[in-house]
Amino acid sequence: MNIKAWDIKESELAQQVRKYVKMYSRKGAFAYVHSFGCQLNVSDGEKIKGILSALGFKFTEDYAKADLIFLNTCAVRESAEDTVYGTLGNMKKYKMENPGVILALCGCMASEPKTIEKIREHYYFVDILFGTSALSQLPRLMLEHYEGKKLAYDIKEYKEEFGADYQIRESSFKASVPIMFGCNNFCTYCIVPYVRGRERSRSADVIIREVEELVANGYKEIMLLGQNVNSYGNDLPDGMSFSQLLRRLNEIEGDFWIRFMSSHPKDAGTDLLDTILECDKVGKHLHLPVQCGSNSVLKRMNRHYTAESYLEIVNYLRERSAGFALSSDIMVGFPNETEKEFEDTLKLVEQVKFDNIFTFIYSKRNGTAAAKMNDATTDTEKRVRMDRLLKLQREVAAENYKRFIGKTVHVLVEGESKQGAGWLFGKSSAYTIVEFRGDRSLIGTFADVKITDARNWAVSGELV
Ligand code: 5AD
Ligand code: SF4
Repeated sequence: MNIKAWDIKESELAQQVRKYVKMYSRKGAFAYVHSFGCQLNVSDGEKIKGILSALGFKFTEDYAKADLIFLNTCAVRESAEDTVYGTLGNMKKYKMENPGVILALCGCMASEPKTIEKIREHYYFVDILFGTSALSQLPRLMLEHYEGKKLAYDIKEYKEEFGADYQIRESSFKASVPIMFGCNNFCTYCIVPYVRGRERSRSADVIIREVEELVANGYKEIMLLGQNVNSYGNDLPDGMSFSQLLRRLNEIEGDFWIRFMSSHPKDAGTDLLDTILECDKVGKHLHLPVQCGSNSVLKRMNRHYTAESYLEIVNYLRERSAGFALSSDIMVGFPNETEKEFEDTLKLVEQVKFDNIFTFIYSKRNGTAAAKMNDATTDTEKRVRMDRLLKLQREVAAENYKRFIGKTVHVLVEGESKQGAGWLFGKSSAYTIVEFRGDRSLIGTFADVKITDARNWAVSGELV
């Protein structure tokens, strides 16, 4: 069910909550919302802001000015959880000195059953806790808190979802649109299927309408989000496939780009690859997490593809579009990864020539299958391997980005660059970071840039 903005704003529940907000907040009623982790979480954070706005809050970037603090958490690696507990520790003093301030925890970490116990025991000053699919319950939990409940919490799965009209977006020209939630893949290292539940696709009609509205409102980049967008529609009775959805969105009139993440290599068939190549509004870039280049490790990860089948996808794209860009997630130090297995990853990185990689050292997540596996590889070995991987990628990317020198690329200008005064940056269709000199008024528009220089993470050039 899709909930519209007025559903909440006009409800009796919201009216009750707004009365309490006025009564208990200091002048203004400010909320601080911080999202950790992936873009899906950032998108949830924008929806939380929408709901809080309907409940009478304005927003601040400084938690020490807030009447309500929201930490929208990530659980994908232990370090992400440590950051959240560290942040909670830092906020304790402010909360103790201002007991009227409400502290709320949501997102993936909040969906793990062990978190409630830990919060009750060590972070007893948290007031509200709810899981990733209980967003619709936020007004009720706020009311329970105001009416005196010590820890108002809900980690059940709800089908209701909020429409885009509830989202307070950070950008006026880049928008993310979740198309599905959850994951059915159970890669052995990953906590996501446990905290985000099974795959649920949003209706194609709702997605199309949302994108049409965004484009009509001047948005230039639409990022479709899902843990595994390739399986979009599998759970809908008369569902469109992801390729069909892309082709339909590509027909929407206007000057805009469509991007998406993430895809699973096991489901990236030629149907999808042809769609990306043929649709003029779809960026010529694919983020295709490979995780590693060793077939034995891929098997232990339960990934259902091989290094060879991954290379087939890469070759298919490159044969048809020479400049096609690929990026990936790569994990180092999966339990018992041998030197030979790690070298297979290095070999794959050399063969594919990724434009960009996001690298992670394996982090044990309790409850996953990999957490029970033996691990003889030491932390030092893992860190050394990570350094070797990063060094190789820097060399590969520096060489790779030279392919753009002399070419003119179309870019969506995103903001001011750290290069210095007068410098801007944008991203090309291939998702390459492009730096150039130009006027700030170009931010949020498309521009053409002739590339003159390449580094290992970006290219630069002159405005045409
Ligand atoms: N340890 C390290 N990295 C992980 N990822 C997912 N789970 C783990 C884990 N337990 C990485 C994968 C995934 C990305 C979003 O996070 O590479 O693609
Ligand atoms: Fe995690 Fe694998 Fe699902 Fe991605 S596809 S969210 S890595 S289980």
